[in-house]
Parts: sequence; C-alpha cells; structure tokens
Amino acid sequence: MEYILSPSILSADFARLGEDVKKAADAGAQWIHIDVMDGAFVPNISLGFPVIKSLRKETDKVFDVHLMIEEPGRYIEEFVESGADLITLHAESAKHLHRAIQQVKAAGCKVGVSLNPATPLCALEHILDEIDMVLIMTVNPGYGGQAYIDAMDQKIRNLRKMADERGLDLDIEVDGGVTADNIGHIKECGANIFVAGSAAFNGDIEANVKKLLKAMEE
Ligand code: DX5
Ligand code: ZN
Repeated sequence: MEYILSPSILSADFARLGEDVKKAADAGAQWIHIDVMDGAFVPNISLGFPVIKSLRKETDKVFDVHLMIEEPGRYIEEFVESGADLITLHAESAKHLHRAIQQVKAAGCKVGVSLNPATPLCALEHILDEIDMVLIMTVNPGYGGQAYIDAMDQKIRNLRKMADERGLDLDIEVDGGVTADNIGHIKECGANIFVAGSAAFNGDIEANVKKLLKAMEE
C-alpha cells in the first residue's frame, strides 16, 4: 500500500500560493489537495478554475481536487481542463452521483467519493467498485483548523474491512484535523492518504511537511 501526504492549500497564504505549494512539494509531499467551496454545499467560499490553472504551471504534483460544491457534475470538464488529476465528489452533493462518477471517468480523470461525518458507509455500497478513492471527512467540511472527530476512527476501520471483503485495493483518504500526532493512529485505522491543511501550512512549511511525512512513514 502506498502512503501519501496531500497538503491542503486552504491554509496556505493565497498571496504566495505558488511559493507555498513549491515548499510543500520540495519537502516531499506527494500530492497537493485543492479544496473548492461554493458557499452553498458548505458555508465558505474558497477558489476556482483560474487558481487551479495558474497553480498547474508551478508544479507537476498530483492535483487532488476536493469539490465541496452543489451538483459537481456541472463543472467536471472544466476542472479536468484546469489541471485536476483526481476529482473527489461528495455523495451528499450530487442528485445523480453515479452519473457524476461516470462523467469524471469519461473526462480521463481518477475519481473519489467523499462522505461527511454523518453520512454512513452504506452510501458507497453500489458505487464502491466504480471509484479509485474514498475520502472520509473527519471534520464537517468548510473550514481548516478544526479538531479530528474521534468517532471517524471506526468508520475508517469499517471501510477498510468493506474494501478488503470485496478484494479492492482502495485508496482511503482522510481529511480534517490531521496532525503529526494523530497521523500514525489514522494510518493504523486503515487510511493511506492524508490531507493536512493547518498542520502543513501554518508556520514553517518545510519543517511541518517533513514532520508529517516522518510520522506517516513510521
Ligand atoms: C475542510 C477541507 C480540508 C481542510 C483541512 O473542509 O476539506 O481539506 O483544509 O484542514 P485541517 O487539516 O486544518 O483540518
Ligand atoms: Zn479537503
């Protein structure tokens, strides 16, 4: 199983976004997590296509695009054209989730499905075989810097079991409240891709990323 750190640019300095992302990439982060929020699905607005397009010129790292927007199917092609390598859709945001998944695949992109903390794993039952990754939200989406919800430990464990039972080599990403102190525990629960926003970008980015990678690899 491959273990990946995906720093979330939501906590970066948007006036120095290119530099901040390069620092995280140079320190060894494998992916870059890009949070798109529309002020409707979540109570915050973040960034959109122009920012992703500009950032695409700065790094070759995998762009892990987390769509927290209503009816994401409306914009799939534009996100792919902007530079997304992996697009994650929220199960709660698409009336026709199965169709939206097919749209991402048809656009030549890897696809993930995310679940809010209150959404049960059974939402994945009929689509799990269709997707590359599940993103388990371990905070309620919308903001960086919130505390990890401990009840999500069991959800991650149950999802790994569900994937194993189906013989799927599923990527399980965890997003929200990930720090160097809990990343080892989250890995032990069965996750293999770790998003970190405030723990990566607040303060010394290089030192933070190295610390997170070290704790992840232990
Ligand atoms: C929250 C976003 C996260 C956020 C995580 O809605 O999806 O990616 O940046 O921030 P931290 O790591 O600070 O909890
Ligand atoms: Zn995110």
